[in-house]
Amino acid sequence: MISQAILQQRINQFLTEQLNRCQPHDSRLKQAMAYSLLSDGKRMRPLLVYATANSLQLELAVADHLAAALEMIHAYSLIHDDLPAMDNDDLRRGQATNHIAFDEATAILAGDALQSLAFASLAAAPAEPIVVVKWVRELAQASGLAGMAGGQSLDLISEQQTVDLSQLQQIHNAKTGALLRACVAMPVLGHPTLPQDQQQHFLRFAEHLGLAFQVVDDVLDVTQDTATLGKPAHSDTKNNKSTYPSLLGTAGAQQKANELIEAAFDALDQLPQDTDELRDLAHTILHRKH
Ligand code: IPE
Ligand code: IPE
Ligand code: MG
Ligand code: MG
Ligand code: MG
Repeated sequence: MISQAILQQRINQFLTEQLNRCQPHDSRLKQAMAYSLLSDGKRMRPLLVYATANSLQLELAVADHLAAALEMIHAYSLIHDDLPAMDNDDLRRGQATNHIAFDEATAILAGDALQSLAFASLAAAPAEPIVVVKWVRELAQASGLAGMAGGQSLDLISEQQTVDLSQLQQIHNAKTGALLRACVAMPVLGHPTLPQDQQQHFLRFAEHLGLAFQVVDDVLDVTQDTATLGKPAHSDTKNNKSTYPSLLGTAGAQQKANELIEAAFDALDQLPQDTDELRDLAHTILHRKH
């Protein structure tokens, strides 16, 4: 098994190369893109891509492109999430947020350009064109109206309203779950002969994991301090967000995360492939401190 640290180095290197190729080299916008993309993130989405690719024996040199595209979309989503018009936060990954370090207009454009670069990196993947088209469609769905962007919109609307647990689950599945699901769905699409039932087990694993990820994020917002998180603690309280701890209490939300990870493991139990790396990652996601 390749360690998470080695794979984090691998994606950091690949992201640096992808960005280095972009012109114009010396632009302020490129500096803003690099500032967020190459900062100290956990790289959970790339790790999930690599772990799924490993289970399905998809080459890492191909997986690099999927991992990079997903991390670029993620970086863009974080830059926009922190803007004054959204969560209005000033710290991310232990450094000033993009709009503080640069300015709001540059932060908006850095997000836009990272989104474009994500699709360019994906389109350059060394794979059959028909498969690349499927990946592009998957990434577009996961990041757009039915996925991350749509979920972020619902998240903001929910600041003005009380939402129930089923509505909150819908918001979390869209704003966070969809991209994490795509981290598994894209390698699965790269294996066109994988039996239908196995495809479904991989996706069910990813859906439980994706929701668990945001439930844990909500818990960490109220249980950890700013220094540990590298982003402002109690941001959700400040913004009057509906969260799992606000609806279920902190212990109830933690219990929900435990149950979701159990359900994710149950899905993996149905698979004949070696899924140890995926299990390890689910464990990391449940027990992380930031
Ligand atoms: C934070 O994501 C935003 C959510 C979707 C909860 P991560 O916790 O993966 O943030 P980084 O990439 O490690 O900074
Ligand atoms: C953001 O959720 C999800 C995204 C799509 C970026 P949060 O707003 O809870 O993420 P953090 O806590 O700021 O990282
Ligand atoms: Mg948010
Ligand atoms: Mg936020
Ligand atoms: Mg949060």
